[in-house]
Amino acid sequence: MLGSFPILPHRDLLRTLARSTSRYVCQACGAAAPKWGGKCDACGEWNTLVEEAVREHTPGRPAGRAGARRIEFAELSGTPEYAPRRLTGIAEFDRVSGGGLVRGSVILIGGDPGIGKSTLLLQVLCRLAADARCAYISGEEAIDQVRMRAVRLGTAAAPLQLAAATNVGDIVAALDQPGAAEFCVIDSIQTMFLDVLDSAPGTVAQVRASAQELIKVAKRRGTVMLMVGHVTKEGAIAGPRVLEHMVDTVMYFEGERGHQFRILRAVKNRFGPTDEIGVFEMTDHGLAEVPNPSALFLAERRGDVSGAAVFAGIEGTRPVLVEIQALVAPSPLGTPRRAVVGWDGGRLAMVLAVLEARCGVSVGANDVYLNVAGGLRIAEPAADLAVAAALISSLTGEPVPADAVLFGEVGLAGEVRAVSQTDLRLKEAAKLGFASALMPRRSGRSRGDDGLRCLEFGAVGDLLPLFQQKQGRVVGRG
Ligand code: TYD
Ligand code: MG
Repeated sequence: MLGSFPILPHRDLLRTLARSTSRYVCQACGAAAPKWGGKCDACGEWNTLVEEAVREHTPGRPAGRAGARRIEFAELSGTPEYAPRRLTGIAEFDRVSGGGLVRGSVILIGGDPGIGKSTLLLQVLCRLAADARCAYISGEEAIDQVRMRAVRLGTAAAPLQLAAATNVGDIVAALDQPGAAEFCVIDSIQTMFLDVLDSAPGTVAQVRASAQELIKVAKRRGTVMLMVGHVTKEGAIAGPRVLEHMVDTVMYFEGERGHQFRILRAVKNRFGPTDEIGVFEMTDHGLAEVPNPSALFLAERRGDVSGAAVFAGIEGTRPVLVEIQALVAPSPLGTPRRAVVGWDGGRLAMVLAVLEARCGVSVGANDVYLNVAGGLRIAEPAADLAVAAALISSLTGEPVPADAVLFGEVGLAGEVRAVSQTDLRLKEAAKLGFASALMPRRSGRSRGDDGLRCLEFGAVGDLLPLFQQKQGRVVGRG
């Protein structure tokens, strides 16, 4: 009988023969294999094997138990040493970084192509360059392109070191010496590669290994490393999820391409709070800070149209008022559409179901579109009440009172639940000239003196009387 042997694709065969410095690790179960395969032999998962560089042992430091150095334990009660922080002077950026950049920290900034990541980091670095050594390493653009951008930003005179490089070994060598940059931008991590790995730049293995090397040098020398990361179609930073675990801070730079607003958001921060946002406006001369985002988001609002409600939200520590727009329109399709921009589609389905089951408000076979104006993305359940009001308003053709803001979470029983930071929301609404707030019942203790007329709701169905001038379109069961 003839024996069988595995036929390797040509490239993999060469790889196996030529190199013993890498192995293939299953991302699902962690099993290592000497050669690549479509399926992990250990757990049976498909497409999970990823090339990894095998690290050689440092001579004199065996990895096993015998002879290993013992770690030093410390008391919990010691005085912590707070890392000094460095403010950039761009207040919206400093807010998101948690009050300045920490020595030796690594920040990953993700975002869609063209959203303005390179612009933001160049602006940040030019500010820092006034009294610190700064380097901008671009793997995507030529030095002249970066120079042209700096001219456009009006910061061409900043004493910044520029390099167009992609080889991580070279970059590490340049950063790992006395007098090297204290702040370094890597634009982008997907273009970087380590020559000990065979895989192409941008692959999971390269991205991870390159980031690892750069993080090591940042920690060793106290360099602040700002890395750009591209975002996949699904909205995550391209490359392994572990990249987000490896760095200290992950920020996303988001916004709609057609809008000039850009929002910088921290989703992870070892040195500060997350959920803070920084709001910028893309102008002809780079990104401008927006210190009062509510005014900007409401700038193009028309108070008298149906289907729009102003939500008093909280982003991080800051109140932000945004307009939520709904359109309920007859559908030409067999299955009506539900399209959401800036909010959670599942949450919209829930609000629609509650309106139908608890208040007798049915959108029936209509298409439903929901949009958060200005390109902001809202994650707070507190927006439920404003969404419900916008939907009912669109359905009835009756506008929501133009001088009112709304907030409150809607439960499955149709109840309106209290949300946090009521006073902050009301204060912002009063500041922007609103006269009333439609909101959950307040617990006795929070009663700020903000001059707003507060209409408190216990159930979402109580909104209906506001819209029932046009009879016959809403059937309220009460
Ligand atoms: P960029 O920073 O290159 O985006 P990313 O690095 O995220 O891919 O920004 C690109 C866009 O920003 C581009 O469409 C042009 C626009 N832009 C301005 O509108 N004004 C400016 O001053 C600059 C520098 C760019
Ligand atoms: Mg760029």
